[in-house]
Amino acid sequence: MSDSRYDIQEESLIRSDISEYLKRHENKDLLRLLTCGSVDDGKSTLIGRLLYDSHMIYEDQLEKLAKDSKVWGTTDDGFDPALLTDGLKAEREQGITIDVAYRYFSTDKRKFIIADCPGHEQYTRNMATGASNCDLAVILIDARYGVISQTRRHSFICSLLGIKHVVVAVNKMDLVGWSEEKYDAIMHDYNSFVARLNFSDIHFIPMSALRGDNVVEHSRNLAWYDGPTFLHHLESLNISTDRNLIDMRLPVQYVLHPNLDFRGFSGTLASGVLRTGDAVASLPSRRESRIRKIYGPDGEVQEAFSPMAITVTLEDEIDVSRGNMLVPVNNMPHIGNEFEAMVVWMHENPAREGSSYQVKHGCSMVPGVLSKVRYKVDVNTTKRDKVHDKEEVITDSLNLNEIGRCHFTLHRPIAFDPYDRNRATGAFIIVDRLTNVTIGAGMIVDRIVSRSGRKPAPVSQNIVKSTSLVSASDRRALMGQQGVTIWLTGLSASGKSTIAQQLEKQLVEQGRPCYILDGDNVRHGLNRDLGFSMEDRQENIRRIAEVAALMTDAGVIVITAFISPYRQDRQSAREVVGDEAFIEVFVDAPLEVCEQRDPKGLYKKARAGEIRQFTGVSDVYEVPANAEITLPTASLSPAGAADKVIEDLKNRGIIS
Ligand code: ADX
Repeated sequence: MSDSRYDIQEESLIRSDISEYLKRHENKDLLRLLTCGSVDDGKSTLIGRLLYDSHMIYEDQLEKLAKDSKVWGTTDDGFDPALLTDGLKAEREQGITIDVAYRYFSTDKRKFIIADCPGHEQYTRNMATGASNCDLAVILIDARYGVISQTRRHSFICSLLGIKHVVVAVNKMDLVGWSEEKYDAIMHDYNSFVARLNFSDIHFIPMSALRGDNVVEHSRNLAWYDGPTFLHHLESLNISTDRNLIDMRLPVQYVLHPNLDFRGFSGTLASGVLRTGDAVASLPSRRESRIRKIYGPDGEVQEAFSPMAITVTLEDEIDVSRGNMLVPVNNMPHIGNEFEAMVVWMHENPAREGSSYQVKHGCSMVPGVLSKVRYKVDVNTTKRDKVHDKEEVITDSLNLNEIGRCHFTLHRPIAFDPYDRNRATGAFIIVDRLTNVTIGAGMIVDRIVSRSGRKPAPVSQNIVKSTSLVSASDRRALMGQQGVTIWLTGLSASGKSTIAQQLEKQLVEQGRPCYILDGDNVRHGLNRDLGFSMEDRQENIRRIAEVAALMTDAGVIVITAFISPYRQDRQSAREVVGDEAFIEVFVDAPLEVCEQRDPKGLYKKARAGEIRQFTGVSDVYEVPANAEITLPTASLSPAGAADKVIEDLKNRGIIS
């Protein structure tokens, strides 16, 4: 056993300057790691050896260890490091690890948290729990057996859970005569199957955890290996670049309102950097303001980084409550009620298509439906000659410990990022509606809104689409035109309805089947159940897009006149109708002009506080980034604007 450099230095510092010692500890960065291996790969031994050789064991623990080694130990020399970590009695008696156990230790360079996960197949659930916030995974391989199906499964789950760094600990080298050849073959095997996974670096270390070779000290037996020891690698690995410093996300955990003059929003920065003066929006309301002040643990700061816990105040009194999220105005997450996710199922009752669950995402809990199980992943494939590490199996349910890709349709929209970009806003858990038990965990992979196959499956079962006997070209011949949707968007009183009417009149006069869908009209019928909250506006636009898509398909020129204030909803509408048949027209009038026109007196009411969430006054309008046509109505008459649109339709060959 070596004399450790760690405890000698540390001990003298503790004696001479305790506050300096504590401060150093406080400022050390933290590496979270996960150990995965099969029952006999030597996980507990490796962790025990790490703690023992780096002198992280208390005297009384050592005494007990010596005693226990005589009873339980698997070694001849009376010392078995596995007994240090096999904390659970049942585990010792069965010789396996049965739950996630966390170990904490630190060296003079770093603090560490080790999640020790069981290797058995039926414990995927625990592994997913342990892995979800780890920086690095240690994959243990028994040098005698090489890469086995467990190795593949563990690696796949680690990759799925977003772990970027891997150490492959090729253990029990003593039992293969310290053979470099054997080690090279394992390295080659592992590299060939892992290529498809999403790791940024993989590091191999040959070792004998039981004897201590290459764990903390370099091994003479493995002189041919010139890389770092296990501990040295853990201490020096750079993880600072793993953090997402681009997409600022501040989930609000508490609202601090101790007196009338102070209203602060507290939370842990999930990702990104936040500075005073930054323009932010609160989600889901999308109200905008600027950061006035930022308070860290030691008082006011000018900027904060993830994962700091902070409190911020805003320039304006906008409504922000627990569960909301502050994000940059120019870099918003997706907001929607549909997404696809990789799901790890954790309950005996299988996940079934069409079932309702509660989805807990950040601080909010939203009911929803698992609308489709697309496939499940067979991560246990034992065919060693297979190049692929996983297989996709078509199914409509997921059993305990199975992993699959699913569609979700929630009752309310949430703000999310893809998990591989942002673990905090891309992960969720699935909760049983009756028992409140966690039954699954999900990682969002994509948003799904599209006409062409990516659209989510309907909630109803047993419905089959029927086809028409009339072809698209028959229909075109009948109508004398091709259907198209002209999507007018702009502030209230910008001129959408007036332009729509002009356009309709001119087109009908030319003998062209044409129809207007107008916000104020549709809200008296089809959408009379909807108000002006973000969710309702989204649903308003979704329904209109579906209607417009049907009418466009029927060969009609559809003109829609809706504020449709959110960029993402307009994009969804485009995807529903089909890009080739969708023309976005920005009816562009400055807010002052609209407010001056105020034909229905609504701006006046909104300013007086009589109408809430009024677009332009107390709710946002997101200006189109790439509309096909822009109509500046402050300087263009309604007839002139209609002419411009017709001109464009001609140029596009939609009308002759
Ligand atoms: S949208 O935002 O969902 O696209 P839509 O175009 O259907 O709105 O309806 C907008 C019309 O509803 C406005 O022209 C106005 O007459 C009326 N209205 C009533 N309350 C509001 C409000 N809070 N915000 C915007 N428009 C409102």
